[in-house]
Amino acid sequence: MNALRVVRLLTWALVVVLAGVTGYIVWQGRQAGPQDVVGSGEAAVGGPFTLVDTNGRTITEKDLAGKPYAIFFGFTHCPDVCPTTLAELSVLMGEMGADAEKLNVVFVTVDPERDTPESLKSYLSSFSDKVIGLSGTEDQVADVVAKYRVYRRKVPTEGGDYTMDHTAAVFLMGADGRFRGTISYGEAQADALAKLQRLVAG
Ligand code: NI
Repeated sequence: MNALRVVRLLTWALVVVLAGVTGYIVWQGRQAGPQDVVGSGEAAVGGPFTLVDTNGRTITEKDLAGKPYAIFFGFTHCPDVCPTTLAELSVLMGEMGADAEKLNVVFVTVDPERDTPESLKSYLSSFSDKVIGLSGTEDQVADVVAKYRVYRRKVPTEGGDYTMDHTAAVFLMGADGRFRGTISYGEAQADALAKLQRLVAG
């Protein structure tokens, strides 16, 4: 077999393999597509949860149903991201005027060890009385954090204290409890406002 013939054979072999791989990927894509939409009926972000509000009442996703909501995860000892986000959301709710009533804003602690319903209540009172603060047992918080695909990590600090690393995005959920998008930390106010207005418009 001369060298040219070997090259031709190898080229054809490669073409056949690539065609097979491409066909398989396309087929997989077609298989996965409709199943993802119809399948479980659960969105990738969000889902059922059980938590406790700042008045000690049990709150589940059913209590939020029927109204869109902006939900984010943080902790009261947070030095910058959480207070900034809460302050910005308060401003945005002011900008929305009467439409703010069509929206729930929810703050879920990632640090239930320190953020009891009582401490959440006093913390949130410096921002807006419209923010629903939610805490719970470690298991309840771990469950909702996993369902929203939130990252959280306890980081020890000097003197035996600790801080929490956590996802900074605000999750936008429809009245049906389905994920609609996010507002990133530091996103321009006009863009964030437009997203909230779209959310309440349905
Ligand atoms: Ni924070």
